[in-house]
Amino acid sequence: MTKRAVVIGCGHYLPERVVENAEFEKTLDTDDAWIRSRSGIERRHFAAEGETTSSMATAAARAALADAGIEADDLDAIVLATSTADLTFPSAATMVQAELNMNKGFAFDVQAVCAGFVYALSNANALIISGQAKRVLVIGAETFSRIMDWTDRSTCVLFGDGAGALILEAQEGDGTAEDRGILSTDLNSDGRYRDLLYVDGGVSTGTSGYLRMQGNQVFRHAVAKLAATATTAMEAANVTADDVDWIVPHQANIRIIQGTAKKLDLPMDRVVVTVQDHGNTSAASIPLALSVGRTRGQIKPGDLIVTEAIGGGLAWGAVVLRW
Ligand code: ACO
Repeated sequence: MTKRAVVIGCGHYLPERVVENAEFEKTLDTDDAWIRSRSGIERRHFAAEGETTSSMATAAARAALADAGIEADDLDAIVLATSTADLTFPSAATMVQAELNMNKGFAFDVQAVCAGFVYALSNANALIISGQAKRVLVIGAETFSRIMDWTDRSTCVLFGDGAGALILEAQEGDGTAEDRGILSTDLNSDGRYRDLLYVDGGVSTGTSGYLRMQGNQVFRHAVAKLAATATTAMEAANVTADDVDWIVPHQANIRIIQGTAKKLDLPMDRVVVTVQDHGNTSAASIPLALSVGRTRGQIKPGDLIVTEAIGGGLAWGAVVLRW
């Protein structure tokens, strides 16, 4: 028998305010057609005043707990992927722990920018298979609207806010690719590319800063690295592209999503796409897409799923799991 981290619940939260591309035409030299054709984005959600990464994460966590039919005290750990924690410290994860009245276990943040959720899943999987935790709440939550330079048309039209959450539970499997749960993970980073995508603030500047991105340079790395990490993870799980029911990619740009699917030889009708409605929500994008994909009736129990993401660092990775 093999211990597996199996998804027993999922949920998401999106702020009420929806901003269409046309809104940006009022303040920037841009238009809906450019944003749509270059990125696939049509609209995004922005957090209201007073809404924070931890409050959105808590809402997504509550939805996932209700979906799993368990209480917060049934959890052993919270792993929260974010680059936009409410404060420098404590972690947003401990804030969620308090809000959920979870009075045991442990909680921590993982920071790998847009790759954060695959890093968090990989960490949660390690906690489960090593026996350190039986049930782990894994959240991706971001408030990127708070780190946008609203005068920079090349970045501020691309990002959105939101949160998604999964609950993983230790269950016994046979050790084959037919098992439910996480079958493999692959993580990578290369700090030589740190200047392609960063926030120009933090403890060293005394400001929270703004996102800076050489988008076309990041784009150049994205398709090749995403296809490579997905392939490595599929090989480790002993599955091929033919076995895959759904690719659930990081939702940054429809052209990256299409390019990666093509390189993996997977048709677009086996890709969950939410970028048009959410924009790039960084670490929240994969759990949001998983939750929305399930709500749409795309993702069903037993489906084989590959998630892949790349972001600042550069950091990238993939997870293969059976739902
Ligand atoms: N409206 C109109 N024109 C614009 C806009 C805009 N909003 N933004 C940029 N342009 C212009 C540029 O100024 C440039 O003009 P120029 O040729 O006169 O200089 C032109 O459009 C082309 O710009 P590019 O940056 O080359 O456009 P590209 O086709 O590469 O698309 C984009 C830009 C959408 C950013 C794309 O490069 C991309 O998606 N990159 C990857 C982003 C990503 O995946 N990041 C990783 C995750 S994010 C994270 O980790 C936080």
